Amino acid sequence: MRFEELKDGNKVAFGTNITLPFLFDSGVNNFAKTFLQRLKMYAGKGPREGWGKNVTLKATDSLISCVQQSCKSGIRVFDCSRAYDGSEQRLAKAIKNEPRENVFIITKIDDDSQFRGRVEACFEESLRQLHMDYVDLLLLHWPVDYPRIGDDRFDHSVPVYARSWHILEEIYKSGRAKAIGVANFSVAQLERLRQYADVMPMADEFECHPLCVRKELNEYCVKHDIQVFAYACLCSMDARLRNENMQRIAKAHDKTIAQIILKWHMQEGRVPIFGTSKKERICEYAQLNDFILTDSELAMIDRQNINYRRFPDSERCDFTKGIWLGWEKYKDYCP
Ligand SMILES: NC(=O)c1ccc[n+]([C@@H]2O[C@H](COP(=O)([O-])OP(=O)(O)OC[C@H]3O[C@@H](n4cnc5c(N)ncnc54)[C@H](OP(=O)(O)O)[C@@H]3O)[C@@H](O)[C@H]2O)c1
Repeated sequence: MRFEELKDGNKVAFGTNITLPFLFDSGVNNFAKTFLQRLKMYAGKGPREGWGKNVTLKATDSLISCVQQSCKSGIRVFDCSRAYDGSEQRLAKAIKNEPRENVFIITKIDDDSQFRGRVEACFEESLRQLHMDYVDLLLLHWPVDYPRIGDDRFDHSVPVYARSWHILEEIYKSGRAKAIGVANFSVAQLERLRQYADVMPMADEFECHPLCVRKELNEYCVKHDIQVFAYACLCSMDARLRNENMQRIAKAHDKTIAQIILKWHMQEGRVPIFGTSKKERICEYAQLNDFILTDSELAMIDRQNINYRRFPDSERCDFTKGIWLGWEKYKDYCP
C-alpha cells in the first residue's frame, strides 16, 4: 500500500501496542528477563498503569490473532515501534503470508536510540524484527531534545531530534523507508525542525480524540501537507464520550459511538490508530464505509473537546530530567 493511499480518508490503523518479547526468540539474556517479567505480571505485580506501561499481557497474548483478524477485515495499516518490545516480531509473524505490498507498516525510532545517537542501528533492528527490507513509514517516536546537563558528545545548539531527522532523511533516500515522519511533535517543534530539515516530515502521529481535538496542530498539518495519524483515537472509550449527544449521533446512523469517532477522524483527513485485544471490535471498526457524518455532527463532536490528555504533552515535559529513559523517571514532570 502506498503512502498516498492513506490520504483518501477511508483508512484506519491497528496499533500493535507494547508486548513482551517472545520467550524463546529473544536470546539467552532476554529469556530470563522476559520470563521474570511474565511471572511478575501473572502474579499481578507487574506494571499496570501509566504511559508506556499499560497491561501488556493482554496485548501480548492477543496481538497475532488480532493482526490476522485485522487483515481479514481489510484493516491493513499497522502501527509499531522499537519501543513496543516484541510487537514488531509478532506483527511479522502474523502477516508472514500477506503479500508485502498489501500491508502498510509504520515503525518508530525509540527515544533512547535517539539520545545515544543509534538511530541507524535502531532502524536496522526494526527491519530485522519485522523480517522486511523496507518499512512504509518511519517515525521519530518523540521530539527528544538535549538535556541541559553537560554532555560534550554533541553540539548542544542543535536538538537531538534534528540530528536524528538527518538520519531518517538518509534512510528515506536509500529507499528503506518509503516515507518518513515524526510523532508527538507540536507546531513549535515542527517549526524548529524546519530550520534543519532538507525533507519535511510527511506525517505526524499524535494524541487526538474528541476530548482532545488539537485544532491548531491539525490545521498546521493540513496546511503543510503532513498526514495526521491520531493515536489513542478512541481515548480508550472514556466514559465522558458516552454522553447524550454522542449517543444521538450513533443512533441516527445505527452505529456504535466508537465507530462514529473513527469516522469523524477519517472525515477530518486523519488516519485513526485504535488499539484492542478483541477481534470482534476489529470487525466492528472495519464497518465504516456505509455512512457519512453531517457537518453539524462533525461540529458537535469537535465541541466535546476539553483538552484532556491521556499521554504526556511533549511541550510540557521537562527534558532536563532524563525523561526519555522511562515514564517512572519523568511522570512527575508531565501534567
Ligand atoms: N506515538 C505514540 O507516542 C503513541 C502513544 C500511544 C499510542 N500509540 C499507538 O496508538 C495505538 C492505540 O492507542 P490506544 O490503545 O491508546 O488507543 P484507543 O483505541 O483509544 O484505546 C484502546 C483501549 O480502549 C479499549 N477499547 C477499544 N474499543 C473499545 C470499546 N468499543 N469499548 C470499550 N473499550 C474499548 C481497548 O480495550 P480492549 O482491548 O478491551 O478492546 C484498549 O484498552 C497504540 O497501540 C499505538 O500503536 C502511539
